[in-house]
Parts: sequence; C-alpha cells; structure tokens
Amino acid sequence: MEGLFDKQATIYLTTRPGYPRKWFSKLAALSPHHYLAWDIGAGNAQATIGVAEPYKQVNAGDTSEEQLKHSVPHAPVQYLLTPSSNLRISEKGRGTLPFPFESVDVGCEDFWSFSPVNTAKRQTVDLSSEEAVVYSEARPRYPSEWFSMLAALTPQHSVAWDVGTGNGQAAISVAEVYEKVIATDISDEQLKQAIPHPQVQYVHTPLEMSDDELVSLIGGENSVDLITAATAVQWFDLDRFYPIVKRVLRKPGGIIAVWCYGSMEFSPEIDAILRRFFDLGKPFQSQSFKIASQCYKTLPFPFESVGVGCEGKPMELDMHKEMSFQGLLKFLSSLPVVHIAKEQGVDLLPEELLKDFERAWGEPESVRAATYKTYMLAGKVKL
Ligand SMILES: C[S@@+](CC[C@H](N)C(=O)[O-])C[C@H]1O[C@@H](n2cnc3c(N)ncnc32)[C@H](O)[C@@H]1O
Repeated sequence: MEGLFDKQATIYLTTRPGYPRKWFSKLAALSPHHYLAWDIGAGNAQATIGVAEPYKQVNAGDTSEEQLKHSVPHAPVQYLLTPSSNLRISEKGRGTLPFPFESVDVGCEDFWSFSPVNTAKRQTVDLSSEEAVVYSEARPRYPSEWFSMLAALTPQHSVAWDVGTGNGQAAISVAEVYEKVIATDISDEQLKQAIPHPQVQYVHTPLEMSDDELVSLIGGENSVDLITAATAVQWFDLDRFYPIVKRVLRKPGGIIAVWCYGSMEFSPEIDAILRRFFDLGKPFQSQSFKIASQCYKTLPFPFESVGVGCEGKPMELDMHKEMSFQGLLKFLSSLPVVHIAKEQGVDLLPEELLKDFERAWGEPESVRAATYKTYMLAGKVKL
C-alpha cells in the first residue's frame, strides 16, 4: 500500500467499505477510558471515523501520503504520515497471525491449526516422551467418591469411555465402578505412560481417525453408560465431539461428565507466588486454558442436567492432595503453558521465581496440603 498513486488512492476511497458503528461501540465498551485511540494503517480513514465516535481523539497513521490526502477531515482526528515502515510484517511473519494479547472475548490467538478430523480443535502441545513421563508423575488422580457419585446416576455399568485419558488418571477409577473402560487419547506418548488396569483398554485415536471409526471403536451407537473427560474437554473441537457423544451414549440412561481443576491453594504466601507464575504465563495461554481458568463456566454443555452442575454453573468440588516441593515444581512444569512459552524461548520457571517458591515453602522436605479447585458438569442427552 505504501506509495499509492493519487488515482489508486481515489479508487480505494470510493470502493472500500466503512465498518459498522456497533463494532466501535462494542470495542469502546471494553476500555475504561476514551481519551485517545491510535488507528494504524488508517488508509482513507475507513475505520478512523468510526473510532472517533466513542473516543475523544484519534491519531490516524499511514505510510501513504496519497491515502491520507483522501481522508475525510474530522475534528477529533489527527492524520499522521508515518513513513517509517518498521511496523511492516516481514515475509517470515506471514501465515497464521501471531496475536500475543490476553483475550477480551473478541477472538484470540490460536496456537494450533484447526484439525478437520476427530475431536480435536487444538492439541495440548504434543508431548515428548520425557514430558509424558513428567505428566504421569506430576498429575493427580481423582477421589473415588466422584466415581461412585457418577455411577449412581446411570442404571447400567457395562461400558464407559474416558476420552483424553492421558495416563488413565480417571480411567482406572472409572474401572472400579464400570465393567469395561475404553480409554482413548490422541497422544501416543501419554498412552505409553498409562497406568495398566485389567478392565481398561487404552486405545490411540490419532487425528486422522474419522468420526464413524471412533464411534465403532468405542462400541457403536447407543452403547456407552458413562463418558468422562477429565481436564481434557477444553482441548476438543466441541462441534465434532458433542455429536459423537450423543451418538454413543445410551439413550436413555447414559451420561457424560467433564471436569477440570483450575487453581491450587496452599497458603497465602505460596498462593501469591503461584499467581505471579500464572501472570507470567498469561501471554502464552491458549483459549483452552482460559476455558479451564474460567472454571468451565463458559464451556458449552448442551446436555440435560442430572444434578451435577449444568451449563454455565459447574459443580464446585475441592480435591485435597499432599504435595512435596519437588511435586509442585513437577506439576508446574507439566502445564502446557510452560511448554508453549519454552518453545518461544521463555522460561516461566526462572531461578528467581523458584527461589521465592523455595523460601515460601519452608523446609524443603516438608509435605504440604494442596487444594485443587475443581469444576464438574454432568448431563444426559436431551430427548
Ligand atoms: C490435560 S490432559 C488430561 C489427562 C487426564 N485425563 C487427566 O485427568 O490428567 C488432556 C489430554 O487430552 C488429550 N487430548 C487432547 N485432544 C484430544 C482429542 N481430540 N481426543 C482425545 N484426546 C485428546 C491430550 O493428549 C492429553 O493427554
């Protein structure tokens, strides 16, 4: 666009659209102050005029003098020629748009490409074998009462499907109350670290697998009594996953239960450092992480309530665990946000933060009580 000739600029002005006013009021509602806005690459002010409605002053910059010449004069707008092209995207940066800002619910950066198949929208960072070992050592299993509570909600207990099973953290407990558990995951490395159990059949379901293949592998339509997705559903493409759930669940009688843990609590001092850690990780958080950190309150869940939370209102359950200092460090290093940051050259567990954790923890060998705040939703297919 730089150096547009006069004629081209006129054509640009007469052919390019302005944008709906409500876009700008929606954006303005997201910032508390409305003194100054900067419209970059203003062109002929296609957006600038709209921005000037809710904002007192707009600085509109463009690298093309010709474009600016054809801009509509408007009192709160100051047009600025910004000839330096140092904001121009390099060829290397083309492709998926990097957008390292925290979402305000107007889209967000997606680190992973959308997969057209299977249940995945975006994957947890593909785990290496070492990371899967750390995951299996660091992540908690879930209280057995949760599984008896779920089992009491289904009339039959023949088949369960634990999807996004990881290392079987939930599957082995489901197997205590259901005869057979099909435990699936898209990560082969996670399954290699799975906890063996005679009633649990671990199956790798790569992304290439079609929905029909997946349905028949699990046992076919109308065959499953309980579906569990523990700390996993936020990674799935729900537009594909939920129809599969509706196909395989027994109707009537079958239920789906999804849950996740969000923050952990130890003591005010340790919790404050944990918050610092999570703040450091914010630029690397995916939308999936956000769904979990919003305690599944924003998770679509189009099922009829069975008394264990409902869409928008998950049931809160505390999970208590004993944890060593090394256990805490392992847990933190097993979080996807740490892997994502690392891939981008950022260490979310720098020496200084570890020292602060160490100081707050006290005696390094001591074991502390951790409370995982967890959120669960269960439901049956609406008939
Ligand atoms: C955070 S882990 C949870 C593992 C285990 N359920 C737990 O409670 O610790 C999420 C798991 O979901 C798996 N996953 C992500 N997308 C998936 C998909 N579309 N289908 C099956 N598994 C998926 C990942 O490979 C990972 O093992």
